[in-house]
Amino acid sequence: MSKSKLDLDFFKKEVYMAPKTVAIIMDGNGRWAKQRGLPRTAGHKKGADTIRTVALAAQDMGIQKLILYAFSTENWKRPEDEVSYLCKLPGLFFNKFINELMEKNIQVTFAGELEKFPKATQDVINKAVNMTSKNTGLELCLAINYGSRREMLLSIKKYADEVASGKRENDLTEEEFSKYLFVPEDIDLMIRTSGELRISNYLLWQLAYAELIFTPVAWPDFDEKALKDCLDEFASRDRRFGGLTS
Ligand code: IPE
Ligand code: IPE
Ligand code: MG
Repeated sequence: MSKSKLDLDFFKKEVYMAPKTVAIIMDGNGRWAKQRGLPRTAGHKKGADTIRTVALAAQDMGIQKLILYAFSTENWKRPEDEVSYLCKLPGLFFNKFINELMEKNIQVTFAGELEKFPKATQDVINKAVNMTSKNTGLELCLAINYGSRREMLLSIKKYADEVASGKRENDLTEEEFSKYLFVPEDIDLMIRTSGELRISNYLLWQLAYAELIFTPVAWPDFDEKALKDCLDEFASRDRRFGGLTS
């Protein structure tokens, strides 16, 4: 029997090693705007549209959880007008795309401390989380006011309190510790856009055995094809986890 398109799709699905958990450092919005003579906020605006494109593509490509670094605990150092625009961005994003995310069965979650944001920002994020909580497709997790060191510190404090109050034994394992984190899963693939070769306080525990890809593409220009290229690269890597290739 000649190979029909369906056969090929089936074959691809069988052999293609899609990562389950993908984390992205969405970097380069400011430089993208600057190159075009635009204010940095124009880069952030375009970058928010990229979130929609990449989330839909990620779902189609079989990714289960996509974690996007949207605002770090260090980003408060930026000028006030930029921070204030970034605080408005979740509202602009969800106004535009929440219906589509619902239609596509995407579940929105977040990682980080929302309390530091203005109430309006907290409200739009919580609303999107609640509205999509029963969806069963891709989990789109926004790392927002997220810092990995802070995440670990909060987890350790919580664990120490539980031990001190007798709620649990002093018997922590690596697996158990993960459950205290905002992001409990190990990351399969981490992508950073826009050429910087650093982790910037992102998922330090969870990236222990992640494959890392650094692409020169600026986040506003990142698209389905760019994501597919990263997944192809991921599929070609030999993940040994300290062992030997079988
Ligand atoms: C990433 O783009 C978005 C955030 C950090 C919020 P940048 O704003 O860091 O853009 P560059 O790195 O200055 O180009
Ligand atoms: C990392 O990007 C944080 C986010 C993408 C939200 P930054 O642009 O803040 O990182 P650094 O300052 O270049 O390390
Ligand atoms: Mg940057």
